[in-house]
Order: sequence, then structure tokens, then C-alpha cells
Amino acid sequence: MHTLLVVDDDPDVLSTLTRSFRKGYKTLSAPGGAEAITILNEQPVDLIICDQRMPNIGGVEVLSHALKVQPEAIRILLTGYTDVDSLLACVNDAHIYKYVTKPWDPEELNLTVVRALESLDLKRDLDEARGLLESAYKDAVVMLCLAAEGKDQDTSSHLHRVQNYTEALAMAMGVDEKEAVHMGVMSMLHDIGKLATPDAILKKPGKLTDEEWVIMREHPMAGVRILGDNPFYELAREVSAGHHENFDGTGYPNKLRGEDIPLSARIVKLADVFDALTTKRPYKEPWSIEAALENIETFSGSMFDPAIVKQFKQLYFDGTLDHIRELN
Ligand SMILES: [Fe+2]
Repeated sequence: MHTLLVVDDDPDVLSTLTRSFRKGYKTLSAPGGAEAITILNEQPVDLIICDQRMPNIGGVEVLSHALKVQPEAIRILLTGYTDVDSLLACVNDAHIYKYVTKPWDPEELNLTVVRALESLDLKRDLDEARGLLESAYKDAVVMLCLAAEGKDQDTSSHLHRVQNYTEALAMAMGVDEKEAVHMGVMSMLHDIGKLATPDAILKKPGKLTDEEWVIMREHPMAGVRILGDNPFYELAREVSAGHHENFDGTGYPNKLRGEDIPLSARIVKLADVFDALTTKRPYKEPWSIEAALENIETFSGSMFDPAIVKQFKQLYFDGTLDHIRELN
């Protein structure tokens, strides 16, 4: 059942409104702005009908507060005036759904409430579906990467650390939060091309021969092929193709240089190398963070983008790197 909050300093109006909505809704009533704000701070409300002119705290203030604390709740303003300027201010400040002039037509108000709540339910259903899809795609990425893990020494915790370093670095480099989160998820796919690399090469205990290196170096473009042509995975293709390019143009597969290498790939390269250095592998003990950072600094400008190295060191100084390592 939906919860309505009706607010009016006129007791007659308040009881009329409360009575008219009591059937079918959980109806809360507030005789003034202060009481309304207390209710909004304490319990979830689906829709608010609020009088405009009230002593002390007016309707615009109440609905603006509602916008802050319960942005999803539908806001309807009851007004005795049709002063265009003040109504416009209210629409701007409190993002109201609709204003209703007094005296109101009860049937019309009821219909407004019904429609508003229908749109609220629809929005909630859509949000839920979107959330489900989002978690499904993230799970699918992890599943795919874990399938590839069987062929390599990467573990899910390595992938999640690379994801988190990538996300933090992307934000530090000025990428907006939503895109940075997406880049983090896509970063996990950087080595997906190793699915196409023969086990004899991937798991060879000794050094690779020149011919074997040629095959090993095919994994970035093999990843691009595996990732198909869906626009959603564009960033993952960028990362797969570019995570072995070097900033000075000596990397592979395309010997791209500087900013010709997509930002996502430059970021993931650093995140991946740092995590490989600081993690225990069958053939080596983990390096300390400081030793790994020093090593990365040595290759700033050759392997890595100096601007990204600088931001990464900042993440070390502000404790973000430690936090990520504790998380995973
Ligand atoms: Fe790789």
C-alpha cells in the first residue's frame, strides 16, 4: 500500500484531505511544515500533497526538503494562488510533479494521485529491472573471466583488484563516476584472449621460445575477437587490444604511442602490472607496495603514462591502494 503525506495548516482542509485518501492509502497528516519535515526524516513516503502558504515553514520549503531526503517521492503543491512567479520558483526549487489550485476538484485530485503513483511504480519496476540487468552483466563478466582463469594463474581476487585500481585511477584521471565503474568491470576482461592461447604455452614452466612468444602476443587481438562487436563491450575491446602497448611505442600488438593508446588501456596496464608485482605467484614472492611503485616509476614514460603513474602514487599516499588490497 502506498503512503501519502498530506500537509496543511488549515485543520478543515487537512481533515478533508486525510478522509478522502484514507481509503486505499496509508495516509499521514501534518498540521504544519515542521511536523511534515519530521515525518519525512523518519519514514518513507510515496507522495506528498502540501499546502503552499503556511506560517514559519512554507510548502516550497517542505517540498524542497522532501526532494533532498526522499527524492523519489511525488511532490504535489496545493495553492490558493496562481501567482506564476512563485509557482515557477516552486517548480524549480522543489521539482514538483504538479500544482493544484484551491478549491480543488476531489475527483481530479484523486486521478492525479492515482496517475502519479502509477508512474512511480513503473519507475521502480524499471529501476529494479535495470539493477538486475546490471548485476547480471557484471556476474557474466566475472564468470567469463573465471573460465579463462582455469587456463592462467589469474584469480578472481586479482581481477577484482585490477577492477578497483582501474575504477579509482579512472576517477583520478577525471573520468566521470559511472564511466569509471564501467571501465573497472570491463578491465577484468583484459586477458580474455588467453582463452585462445594453447595451454602448452600458457602453462609452460620454463622460458618461452621466440615462436611461442609470437603466439602469446596474439592474446590481445584474440580477446578483441572473443568480445565480438556489441557496442556495450567497446571499452573491453580497447582494454584487451591496448593493455600490452607501451607509452613510448615499443609495445604490442600495434606499437601505439602516447595518447594514441586509449586511456582505458593505459590505466589497466598499470593496474595489472602493479597487482602482478604485489601478488605472490608460483614463480615469485610478492613485492612490497613501495618496491612495486618504485619499479613502476622507473618505467614511467616508457611503459606507463607518466600522468597515470602520478595519480597512482597519489592513490598510494591517500590510502586508497591499501584499502583496495584489504577489500580483496
Ligand atoms: Fe595480457
